[in-house]
Amino acid sequence: MTADPATAAAQVPRHLAIIMDGNGRWAQRRRRPRAIGHRAGARAVNLSIDFCLQRGIGALTLFAFSSENWGRPEEEVGALMKLFLNALEREVDELDRRGVRVRFIGERELFAEAIRERMALAEAQTSANTRLQLNIAASYGGRQDIAAAARALAVEVAAGRLRPEDIDEAAVGARVALADLPPPDLFIRTGGDQRVSNFLLWQLAYTELWFTETLWPDVDAGVLQQAPDDYAGRERRFGLTSAQIGAEASA
Ligand code: IPE
Ligand code: IPE
Ligand code: MG
Repeated sequence: MTADPATAAAQVPRHLAIIMDGNGRWAQRRRRPRAIGHRAGARAVNLSIDFCLQRGIGALTLFAFSSENWGRPEEEVGALMKLFLNALEREVDELDRRGVRVRFIGERELFAEAIRERMALAEAQTSANTRLQLNIAASYGGRQDIAAAARALAVEVAAGRLRPEDIDEAAVGARVALADLPPPDLFIRTGGDQRVSNFLLWQLAYTELWFTETLWPDVDAGVLQQAPDDYAGRERRFGLTSAQIGAEASA
């Protein structure tokens, strides 16, 4: 991927990606079941959407449930599934009204039929909206995403539509999730852990990372704003030198 002088100059993220972490600990600190933390986290989801709408950030990708999260206790997974279904039933009309296009990335065949139907409805209902591209990563894993792209390429090679020597960065990049969006400029992880946890591995290659100790349910606009403020002062070099970046920005 090459440097985009437009982004470097403006320094306002076009695409924000968030690992919404810390719901379980938020609940445990209150001696409540983890599911209560997930419910509290839903408020912060709405807040982060408002944040992007107000600041003109055009794309937001939220990590809601990882491929690995299926391995959590049945009770917690069940509670999360109920919350997803409720959110899909309750929030989509309002998101549509506000010009938000909703899409889901991840292995959706693993969800129950009722959830898959609601996902499809939400995507269809909001497909013409352009104010904010909201991507919900659910049953998503970055490794699974790259493996699926490799599988799609193999199918095309086997069918004789593609030669192995044509498989380059662009060919893979066109087949991973969110291929139609600019890659995330800024990544936020709440909850204090500094890792990527199998989120958008391919897409985060040159993303600026920002971490906060704040647990996801405690997030407010003030906490969120710290990330773009920090980002605005960073120099993204994309492998080049500082002098080259300066020359590009002024060109
Ligand atoms: C993130 O919060 C939400 C999901 C993974 C679904 P956690 O549930 O991971 O909260 P902690 O990290 O255990 O506090
Ligand atoms: C990442 O958080 C996934 C989501 C926030 C949906 P985890 O809580 O699953 O990540 P680890 O286990 O701390 O790496
Ligand atoms: Mg966690």
